Amino acid sequence: MGVEIRVEGLTKSFGRQVIWQDVSLTLPAGEISVLLGPSGTGKSVFLKSLVGLLKPDRGNIWIGDRNLPYLPEGQLYDTRKLFGVLFQDGALFGSMNLFDNIAFPLREHTRKSESEIKRIVLEKMEMVGLLGAEKKLPGEISGGMKKRAGLARALVLDPEILLVDEPDSGLDPVRTAYLNQLIVDLNAQINATFLIVTHDINTARTVPDNIGLLFRRELVMFGPREMLLSSEEPVVRQFLNARRQGPIGMSEEKDVSELEAEARMGADPGRLPPIPPQLMPSDGRVRPAQSPPGAWLRAHGVQPPPGSFVDETGRNWIEEWPRYVATMGPVGAAAGPGQAPPPGPPPQHPHGPKPGMPPAGGPHR
Ligand SMILES: Nc1ncnc2c1ncn2[C@@H]1O[C@H](COP(=O)(O)OP(=O)(O)OP(=O)(O)O)[C@@H](O)[C@H]1O
Ligand SMILES: [Mg+2]
Repeated sequence: MGVEIRVEGLTKSFGRQVIWQDVSLTLPAGEISVLLGPSGTGKSVFLKSLVGLLKPDRGNIWIGDRNLPYLPEGQLYDTRKLFGVLFQDGALFGSMNLFDNIAFPLREHTRKSESEIKRIVLEKMEMVGLLGAEKKLPGEISGGMKKRAGLARALVLDPEILLVDEPDSGLDPVRTAYLNQLIVDLNAQINATFLIVTHDINTARTVPDNIGLLFRRELVMFGPREMLLSSEEPVVRQFLNARRQGPIGMSEEKDVSELEAEARMGADPGRLPPIPPQLMPSDGRVRPAQSPPGAWLRAHGVQPPPGSFVDETGRNWIEEWPRYVATMGPVGAAAGPGQAPPPGPPPQHPHGPKPGMPPAGGPHR
C-alpha cells in the first residue's frame, strides 16, 4: 500500500539562487499530502527533485532503502517506475489523441500487448471520467479534461507514489470540487502515496491527511492537517486562511515598515476558523490511510476552534465517527473491497458534491 518517502535535509539551488534549504519531511505511505507555498517558492522544483529529474545540492530522499539522489542511472530508472507524475503544464502530446497519450508510458516502458494496453487505458480513463473521449485530441477538450487525461496517464503504470502539480489551476470552483473528490476516490482505490501541489485553500483544508508549507526558502511546517489548521504560527495561519495580515506580502515577504504599519493598525489575527471535516470517498467508506477526525488534536491535547468538524447539515463528525465506521467499515476491511455499502440510510459526505465521475465498481478488485 504505497511507499513512504523520507526527505532529509534537502537543499536545492540554481547557481547562487537558493530555492529551499534543509527540507525534511516524511510522506507517510498511502496518505494524501498537500504542498503549499507562494508562487516561486520551489514547489515544482521539489516535485521534480522527488522523481530525480533535478538533483539536489545535498540531502537524502529515501524510498525504502534507496537514496534517490545517489542512485546509479539504472536503479534510478527502476525507482522512477514507482512514480506517476502530473506536471504543472500537463504535457499532453498535442498530435496524439487521448487514448495514445494515456497509452504512451505503457508502450514506452512495458512489453504489454496492445489488447492489454487497451484494457488498462480504458480502465484508467473510466477512473477519471473520460470514457468515450479516447479519440479526442488535447486541443479539442476543456482544461479540466486535459488535467484528468494527464492524471489517467500518471496512473497507467500503477504508481506507488502519485505526484500532482496544481491539478486545479485554471479550473472553476465546481470542477475543482469534482477533482478533489476524484483525488480522494483515487487514493481510496489505489492506496498510493499522494503529494499534491495546490494554491486552492479549500482543497488544502479538506482533502489531505498532511499539509506542508514552503516560504522564505524553507519548509515552514509539515504535518497532519489538523496540526496546521490549528496552528497559530503566523505564516501557516496567514496562508491557510488566505489573509492579508501576516508575514507574507505581495512580493513574498513583507518588509519591516509594512509589518510595523500593520502592528500600528492593530492587525489582530483573530480567532482561527473551524477545522472542516475531511472529504470522504464517494462510496462513503473510509480510506485505508485515513485517521479518525480529531485524532491528532486529541493526542496532542489541542482544543480545536469552535464549530470544527461540523458539516453543512450540522452533523459533528467527531461524535458521528464511531457509528459511521461501524456501518460503513474501512475500504478493504469490514465491508470488503468491491462489495456494495451496507443497506440503511445513505451516507452524507462531510463535504463536496456527489461525484460526477465515480470510480466504477468501487475499490480495486
Ligand atoms: N531549471 C531551472 N533552472 C533555473 N532556475 C529554475 C529552474 N526551475 C525552476 N527555477 C527557479 O526556481 C524557483 C522556483 O520555481 P518553481 O517552479 O519550483 O516555483 P513554484 O513554487 O512551483 O511556483 P508556482 O506556484 O508559480 O508554480 C523560481 O525562481 C524558478 O525561476
Ligand atoms: Mg509550480
